[in-house]
Amino acid sequence: MKPRLHPLLRRQMQRARDLPALDRTQPWQQMAPQDPIAAGQNHQTLLRENRESMKKPLLGPCDSYQLEPFEYPWAWEMARECEQNTWTPEEIPVAGDVAQWKGTLLEEERHLFLSIMSQLTTFDIQRGDDAAETFLALLQPAEIKHFLKRLVWEEALHTRSYRYVIENMGLDLEIYDRWRTVPAMKARIDLGNRLSDAAQAVYTKRVRDPSYEFTTRDKQEILFAMIFWFLCFEGVWFVMGLSGPVQALARTGKFEGAAEQFRYILRDEFQHIRFGQHVVKEYMAQYPECMTDSFKDAISRLMETTIGMERDYIVYCLPNPILGYNTSDHVETAKWYANLRMHAIGLEPVYTGVEHKFPWMAEMTNIRKETNFFEKRPTEYRTGGALSWD
Ligand SMILES: [Fe+2]
Ligand SMILES: [Fe+2]
Repeated sequence: MKPRLHPLLRRQMQRARDLPALDRTQPWQQMAPQDPIAAGQNHQTLLRENRESMKKPLLGPCDSYQLEPFEYPWAWEMARECEQNTWTPEEIPVAGDVAQWKGTLLEEERHLFLSIMSQLTTFDIQRGDDAAETFLALLQPAEIKHFLKRLVWEEALHTRSYRYVIENMGLDLEIYDRWRTVPAMKARIDLGNRLSDAAQAVYTKRVRDPSYEFTTRDKQEILFAMIFWFLCFEGVWFVMGLSGPVQALARTGKFEGAAEQFRYILRDEFQHIRFGQHVVKEYMAQYPECMTDSFKDAISRLMETTIGMERDYIVYCLPNPILGYNTSDHVETAKWYANLRMHAIGLEPVYTGVEHKFPWMAEMTNIRKETNFFEKRPTEYRTGGALSWD
């Protein structure tokens, strides 16, 4: 049987085939033009020049090895805050979940749990790969890269957390492959890959031609992918997957260990989203030519696609309501988060008259009841039945 290639590997091989043949007589530096040291500049001179007119544009050119002075001190601070949420899956017991899994559970509860676990475990692998391969390559300032390195590590930790639960429960390893066979899951993975491909294609142009100047369209492709990964993928899909149905089950005493693992993961994710919102706003300020009316429309449509895919997915996970949870409330809450993400980057909400339908979510996701939790509580954003974005 022909071995199945990982999709990322397949795409990388395709991209490698598309590149012109490497001229081995040329110095390797010509293949890495974004790095000014590799481009032949003296490191010391470069540092002095940078100190005189300190500018580190997100897409370069700048010295990616020069950490300070910071242009984006918040990125460094956020990485330090992430360190304060360092945790390991083994610290959170899941023995109760294991006993429940081997005992009596409703068939819908098993299906729901397996569906959530299978999508999340694939999602975190994909998210970590994307951050490492797309955004660590594209974004140049050292302190921005520093945060992304922590993010990549955290996605790997989340993968380990899911595996810890899966292994302890003795679940069938088919769970790691399910995304290929469930259309509602595969569509989301495919969308992420398509958008990453587009952003990576922009990077490839620079690799091919060191003097290549990014066009507005190039910059928009990057921004579009950035908005998708931080605000749609993490900001809506991860938040709903981690804080929704499994937390609802935990409220009835089921899967409490997994739910607690999810809450630790979610706190990491809130920090990733917060970083993403900052970096997207910075990007918009540095490259304002991206923000045409049609591009803003495209972002709104991206949010609508995000919600449509979330609807398909939750209908698959939850064909019948379980105690205290149903798909229509789930979708309305996802729309509420979509509006929140749009608001955070200064864009118009996509949906009117939507509410956060699960006030208990804020409480459930607030581990240790900290007051400086990364997300504001839903009630702070609600004004009666309508949303206020002031
Ligand atoms: Fe994650
Ligand atoms: Fe994340």
